[in-house]
Formats: sequence, structure tokens, C-alpha cells
Amino acid sequence: MKLLTGATPDFLYLIAAICFILALKGLSSPRTARHGNLLGAIGAAIAVLTAFLSIDFLGPNLIVTLIAVILGTVIAVPWARIVKMTDLPQLVAIFNGVGGGAAAVVGIMELTEWGGAATTFSQSATAFAILIGATSFAGSMITFAKLQGLIGSRPIVVPQAAIVMIAVMVAGIALAVATAITGNVWVGVALLAVGFAFGVLLVLPVGGADVPIVISLLNAFTGLTVAAAGFAMVNTLLLVSGTLVGASGTILTIAMATAMGRSVSGILFGALKGGSTAGSTQESDRPVRRAQPDDVAIALAYAQRVVVVPGYGLAVAQAQHTCAELVSELRERGVDALYGIHPVAGRMPGHMNVLLAEANVAYELLVEADDVNAAMPATDVVLVVGANDVVNPAARTDPSAPIYGMPIINADEAGQVFFLKRSMRPGFAGIENELLFSERTQLLFGDAKESLGAIVAALKEV
Ligand code: TAP
Repeated sequence: MKLLTGATPDFLYLIAAICFILALKGLSSPRTARHGNLLGAIGAAIAVLTAFLSIDFLGPNLIVTLIAVILGTVIAVPWARIVKMTDLPQLVAIFNGVGGGAAAVVGIMELTEWGGAATTFSQSATAFAILIGATSFAGSMITFAKLQGLIGSRPIVVPQAAIVMIAVMVAGIALAVATAITGNVWVGVALLAVGFAFGVLLVLPVGGADVPIVISLLNAFTGLTVAAAGFAMVNTLLLVSGTLVGASGTILTIAMATAMGRSVSGILFGALKGGSTAGSTQESDRPVRRAQPDDVAIALAYAQRVVVVPGYGLAVAQAQHTCAELVSELRERGVDALYGIHPVAGRMPGHMNVLLAEANVAYELLVEADDVNAAMPATDVVLVVGANDVVNPAARTDPSAPIYGMPIINADEAGQVFFLKRSMRPGFAGIENELLFSERTQLLFGDAKESLGAIVAALKEV
């Protein structure tokens, strides 16, 4: 029995597509992001229901379909609700990977159904979906394992990596052409296997700071896979939504790579050269100047201009509320205190904006790196809260550093710098930060939330 017939499914797909486009628009600003997210979810719900009700849903696949829907919901909803914000990239990797994998499996099912009798165009689109979908699935699983610490985030290079990679690419292209011409399902299955191998080989040698960029790139791959599946299945919504994901994933990948001063080709073909950023976790034993909460509070209270630079550690410590309290207290005292937001501070795009929005920080106080840098020489104190790489001058001065070329917040140009961190471990890029040893710098060791709490308490006594 089909509940939706005639032009109704297409009309509903159009509404879902409009929801997706408006969702992306909403997600482009923290103010409208929640609204955008909700619109996207509504669009997805309309799409799934429409697809379900426009086929003979009481047919033999009903039970299997319902089991899949229930399993997906039972696993994904609680997971997405309880995931820590610092673990979001892993979740995105898994969700993205299963999307690509699903599109590849749909491609195999299409080949089974057609039995080689479809047009070469449809079979070409299907071959593309199988190859790129399998690549996206396998690559995403490896990024998940890397970010989750299951296999470490260091680059893993197989022997003769470049030759193996080229051989797999050639095999992939040959099998894709054979699938497009013959439509043979077993050739398609071989293509699927090669796609898996390519995904693994592509991501294994990528390490350190490049891993989240690769997630975004694989996300774009999944979008293209879904768009290709849309061509093969003559489904406009798959085509539109796949293209949206492909385009936005590509734009995000380029934006992240630019913000880190890296090229996308360098990240991808760094794999062929034998790896990207290495990422050491060794603690430095060089001497530093230590500060107590009172010292920091006095320096802040008597400053005219203060820039707080939040980073990944702020998210780990969940210190956004205490940080916002400190800045409010300073502003009430007439100090021009604001936040310097680096585009890749934290571990995902917009990480700091989302965190500080949670603590109801006014958007006007979140100043972008370029603007904050322009006034840095006139800044009395920079308070670096759980950040490291985004203020590391090696990005400007050391061509051998993995972050060389990444625009940074020039904290070293301010009158005084305080770092709140727990130890002398390096940041994500795994390199030493000379700013920690500067004469103008002092370190307050401890968890960022506790340190900020102690500074707020001390400030009230000043
Ligand atoms: P990081 O350079 O990773 O530094 C974080 C600092 O926080 C560390 O020095 C760490 O030192 C400290 N920390 C951790 N937990 C803490 C806690 N509970 N209390 C106090 N301090 C704590 O972070 P960043 O400056 O934000 O730079 C981000 C890095 O991630 C960049 O290298 C960037 O390229 C990379 N990255 C970002 C993105 C996006 S899109 N945001 C994507 C990929 C990669 P201790 O361990 O000593 O406390």
C-alpha cells in the first residue's frame, strides 16, 4: 500500500530540500544555529517519512525497515545527547561514515536489481557512489579510532605507502570503469573492497591537527556519494541534499585548512609523502615563572585592556561559566575585557563561540583574531585559558613547526601574559611554545575552572 502518490512525494521532497537550505543558512551564525539545526532535523524527518510512505511500505521489507529505524534511533539519539562537546568530532566521524557506507551499499543493491541492464550513466553514478562511499566509510572509521585514542592520533605509514596508494587508486579507477560498463554486481563488490582499502590508506598516515580536517573532507565525500546515489536512483532529494553536504563540506575543509595555514592538497598528499603533523605529548622541563591567583587578579584589576584567549582546555575544564564571570567582573570595574577568538581554537569549527554562547557571553565581546591583533600592542594583559597552539609564535617564526603559517593571536605583543594550564605538556600540535618561557609570561598551573574560580575570588578582594 502506498499512502503518498502522484506529485505529493516530490512536493514533500521540495519542502525537505528547502528546510536543508534554510538549515545551512541558520547554522552559519551562533545566534541562529539552534533554529537551523531544528529546521534540518524537520527536513530529515519529512524526507524519511516521505520515502517510507511513497513505497509499498506494507511489503516484505517492513519488518527489516522498522528494525533499522528503531536501532538507528535507539543508538544515535542517546549517544548524541550524552556526548561531551570535546568528543563531537568523533561522533561526526561515525555518523558521516555510516552515511557514506549506506550510500555505497545502496549502490550494490541497485546493481543487483538492474542485473547490468541499466544505462551506462546510471551505472557510472552507482560506481562512483560505491567507490567514494566505501572510502568515506573506512576513512571515517579510522578517524574515529584515531580521535578516540583507540589507535593514537600519530601518523601511521605503511611500507612503500606511495606505491601501495597509487596501485589501489589505479585498481579503483579500473574497477569503477568496469562497473560502469558491465553493471556486474561482483565487480561492484570488488570496487567496494578497494574503496575500503583506499579510505584506510588515505587516513592512516594523517596525524595530529589534520585529523579533524580530514573528517570534514570525508563529510564532503559522503555528500558527493549521496548525490551520485540520487542520480542512480532518480531521487531529486538525494541529489539536492548530497550536493549541499558536498559543497558545505568542501567549503568547511578549505576554511579550516586556511585557518591552520595548511593546504588541502598538503594534508591529503602529505599522506603520500609519509605523514603530516606528528604531535608529541612530552612535557618540557625548562624553567618558567609561576603565578598565584592573587598575582593574576591584581594584574587584571589594574589593567585597562585585557584579552582572554580561550582554547581547548577551557572546553575540557568546562570553565566557560567561570570565565564569563571573570570577564563580567572586570568589565563592571571598567576594564576593557574581551575575548580573542581564534578560528581553530578547540577541536572543531566554532568550538569557542558555542562554549561561550552557552555561558551567555554577548557576541560583541567575541573578537576575531585579526581585530584583536590590531590592538594587541595596546593590550595590558592577555589571559590564555587552556590554549596553546593558537598563541604559539612558532607559527610565525619557525618554518619547521607543523603549525608554521597558521595565523595566531599575537599574545606575545601584549604587556603581560598569563597562561592557565595544568602542566608543561604541549598543545595539540605537540610542539614547545616559546611564549611560555618569555620574561613577560607567568603560568598559573591547575585546572582552568579551579584557577579561574580562584582568580575571581581574589579579584573580589582587590
Ligand atoms: P591546544 O594547543 O591543544 O592547547 C590546549 C591547552 O589546554 C594545552 O596546553 C593543555 O595543557 C591545556 N588544558 C587541557 N585541559 C586543561 C584543563 N582542564 N585546564 C587547563 N588547561 C587545560 O589548544 P588550542 O590553543 O585551542 O589550539 C587548538 C589546536 O587544535 C590547534 O593546533 C588546531 O590546529 C587544532 N585543531 C583545531 C581544530 C578546530 S576546527 N578547532 C581542528 C583540528 C585541529 P595541559 O595539558 O598542560 O593542561
